Amino acid sequence: MAGEVEIKKGLRDVYIDRTRSSFIDGDTGKLLYRGYSIHDLAERSTFEETVYLLLHEKLPTQKELDDFDAQLRASRYLPDEVVQVIRLLHNAHPMDGLRTAGSALSAFDPEVKDNSPEATLRKGIRLTAQAPTIVAAHASIRERRDPIEPNASLNHAANFLYMLFGHEPHQDEARIIEKDFILHAEHGINASAFAARITASTIADLHAAIVSGISALKGPAHGGAAEAVMKMTIDIGSEDKAEEYVRQTLESKGRIMGFGHRVYRAEDPRARHLRNECMALGEKRGHPEWFRILSRVEKAMQPHRSRGIYVNVDFWAGAIYYLLGIPADLFISIFAMGRIPGWTLQAMEQYSDNVLIRPLLYYDGPMDLEYVPISQRG
Ligand code: COA
Repeated sequence: MAGEVEIKKGLRDVYIDRTRSSFIDGDTGKLLYRGYSIHDLAERSTFEETVYLLLHEKLPTQKELDDFDAQLRASRYLPDEVVQVIRLLHNAHPMDGLRTAGSALSAFDPEVKDNSPEATLRKGIRLTAQAPTIVAAHASIRERRDPIEPNASLNHAANFLYMLFGHEPHQDEARIIEKDFILHAEHGINASAFAARITASTIADLHAAIVSGISALKGPAHGGAAEAVMKMTIDIGSEDKAEEYVRQTLESKGRIMGFGHRVYRAEDPRARHLRNECMALGEKRGHPEWFRILSRVEKAMQPHRSRGIYVNVDFWAGAIYYLLGIPADLFISIFAMGRIPGWTLQAMEQYSDNVLIRPLLYYDGPMDLEYVPISQRG
């Protein structure tokens, strides 16, 4: 409290609106997209179907899904000018490349100024389809290779791996990335979705809203955790050192990356799907050590469950990307690629019943100071 004013720092526990996007029960670890369980979607759906569900608020018929998938596949290409922008950014962090190239796309989108629901939906589909092409092109260019054109015979996830590595991925590996995209596609009013909604609330266009989302995702408290987890795992080095690492980190008031969440006080329901994949992929790739180290970290953190600190979605994701051979600085971009449908949905909801988002700050500084000319300041 400041005087008579109650300050809700970090907007913790504040409802800012109603939504039909996703339901999160942080106490029981429940997550629904448009009413459907994340467990069903992760195990039984495809990324294309989940995106359709998020954007259209219903599961598609086969014909609707085929048309939607065709629309996504046809939208993967980048204007040459945007590829030129990516070339200029070859030294940038991949997230900076995605943010800047995503922004540059607005200059070439014929519907950029049209905020109608129909045009916003089409732009969201285009941005969802184009983001993997940007990320893969940037990854190629910085290694002095030409970007690989999208392959229309592959689905969204497989095509991303194809453009990244230059060969068609094994279907199991494409499915892991697809599952990861599904698990990251939407998550209510998290920091990046809030940033996207704030921008949409000024009636700025969808490209502006998505660029706001990408910007907010970049930090280690949000999208950067998977990369930080993998760095932690490599630093620990072997499973017998995990317990000591956790003890020392907590003793020095540090945080264990991939643990804790603003909303979940139980296990993040998305985490279990990646846990299983991480274990299986580690065995398959002949590197079970990363899963073992992470399992020991998880065990060492068990006493902190009573404080509501559990594994979050990013805990296992980093090791999965690493095992797939994806460079660590691309991890946040993968999260961003998966989340574009969620940001689009949040922006569409905001446009549909808009109130400018504009909270207050309680002024806590000096008042009515005398302006002293510079020549008289000591
Ligand atoms: N490791 C150790 N302690 C943690 C922790 C972690 N990962 N996450 C939270 N805590 C502790 C805090 O130190 C704090 O303890 P205190 O009350 O004794 O000071 C308490 O839990 C509450 O933390 P707080 O920062 O208020 O929670 P939050 O809701 O604001 O934070 C995160 C949420 C995600 C920012 C935080 O859990 C975090 O930094 N996690 C690591 C980064 C990460 O994995 N991010 C991905 C999120 S999907």
